[in-house]
Amino acid sequence: MLTQRPRGTADILPGESGQWQAMEQIIRDTCALYHFEEVRTPVFEHTELFARGVGETTDIVSKEMYTFTDRGGRSVTLRPEGTAGVVRAFVENKLYGQPHTVKLYYIGPMFRYEKPQRGRWRQFHQYGVEVLGPEHPAADAEVIAINLDLLRRFGLRDLTVELNSVGCPVCRPRHREQMLERLRPVADRLCGDCQQRLERNPLRIFDCKNDRCQQVLAEVGAPTILESLCDDCRRHFEQVRAFLDAMDVPYVLNDRLVRGLDYYTRTAWEVTVPGFSSVGGGGRYNGLVAEVGGPETPGVGFAGSIERALMVLREQGGALPQAARLDVWVAVADEAAEVPAMRLLQRLRSEGLRADRDYLGKGLKAQLKSADRMQAAYCAILGADEVARGTVTLKDLRTGVQTEVPAEAVVHHVSKGGIEDGSTT
Ligand code: HAM
Repeated sequence: MLTQRPRGTADILPGESGQWQAMEQIIRDTCALYHFEEVRTPVFEHTELFARGVGETTDIVSKEMYTFTDRGGRSVTLRPEGTAGVVRAFVENKLYGQPHTVKLYYIGPMFRYEKPQRGRWRQFHQYGVEVLGPEHPAADAEVIAINLDLLRRFGLRDLTVELNSVGCPVCRPRHREQMLERLRPVADRLCGDCQQRLERNPLRIFDCKNDRCQQVLAEVGAPTILESLCDDCRRHFEQVRAFLDAMDVPYVLNDRLVRGLDYYTRTAWEVTVPGFSSVGGGGRYNGLVAEVGGPETPGVGFAGSIERALMVLREQGGALPQAARLDVWVAVADEAAEVPAMRLLQRLRSEGLRADRDYLGKGLKAQLKSADRMQAAYCAILGADEVARGTVTLKDLRTGVQTEVPAEAVVHHVSKGGIEDGSTT
C-alpha cells in the first residue's frame, strides 16, 4: 500500500510533464485569444452544491462523488466537475454585477469514483470555460468554437462536434408527457435503469446503451426532444447553427445526445473521435445560477480532460513539440573549478538561461555524456587551466564545435545561439 497509488490516479513523471505543460500553455494562450480570464476555485465544496447543481439523479451525484464529513461535521465533496464551483464563485463574489459578460476558464483536478478504464480516471484534470450572462446564441457558438479549436491545436485529428438542443422548462415538460404516454404501457420492456429514468428524467432513455431500450423507443415512435422544441428554443438553435456555419465550425446533428448532468438547457454538444466517445463537451445551463441562489443568469460552457486529450493524441501518433530542456550543462573538470562553476551557473540563470551540472562527482567524460542525455544545447567545460585564464571551453552540442571563450562571454555566445568555428582550441 505504501508504494502504490490509489486506483484510477496517475503520477505525471518528468518524461511526460513536458507534454502536460505544452498542453496547458496552449489552453492559456488560446483562452487569451478568445478573451477568457482564469478562475481558480476550491478543490472541495459543500456536498449540497453538487447535489443541487449537477443533480441528485445523475450518475455523478448518486454513484461517483468522493464525499466525506470533515472534522467540523460538515459534508464536503471533492469536485467531480468544474461548472458548479465556478457558478458558486460567480454568485458568492457577485460577479453578476459586472458591466460586461463574464468569461472564465479553469484548469484543475476533478474527482469521480468511476470504474477505472480506458480514458477514465478517478482523479483527472479538466480544462474548461464558462460564459455567464448572455442568452445570445453567439455565446454558444463561441464556446463550441473554442472547444474544437483547442482540440485541434493540441494536434487531435478526426474530430466531430455532435450537436443537439435539449430544450427548456417550456418544452421539456411537454416532451416528458409525450414520452410517458408512449412508454408507460411498455415500461416492463425497458431495462431497470430506464424504468427509473422514465419517472425521473425520460429524456435520458435516449442515452441508454441497451439495444432493447433503443428498439422500444423506435417501436413506440418516441419523439426526440429536438422534434419537440418550443418556438423560442427552435429559433435559438437555428441561430447557434447559423453562427457555427459563419465561423466555419463543422458539426453534425445528433438528436439523441443527452449529457449526463442535469443543468443543461437548449444547446448541448460533445466532441468525439472515431473509436472513442467524448474528448470534450458542454452546453447551456440557463437555470443553474438561480439554482445555487443567484439572480436568473444564463450560462454556457464546456470541459475536456487533459488525460483524455493526451491519450487520443498518443493513439493517433501525435505529440506536442517541446522546447529544449536545458541551455547549458556546466562540466567541472577538476576541484579548482568547483567555485567558479557555481558562480557561472548562477550567472547563466540570472541571465535567463536554463543551466545545471552534475553533483555526483562524475569524471569529465561521464559529465559530457550527461550533457547529451539532458538534451542541453551547450556544454561549458571548466578546468584549472580555464580558471587560470578566466575562460570557459564552450561546446555547441548540436554542431560539435568547441571554442575557448572569456568566462564573461558565455552568456553572449549562448544567447545569440552559436559559436564561431573553434579558432582558439
Ligand atoms: P462531462 O461531460 O462530465 O462535463 O466532462 C467533460 C469532459 O471531461 C469529458 O468529455 C471527458 O473528456 C472528461 N472526463 C470526464 N470524466 C472523466 C474521467 N473519469 N477521466 C478522464 N476524463 C474525464 C462536465 O464536466 C461539465 N462540467 C462540462 C461543462 C462545462 N458544461 C458546461 N460547462
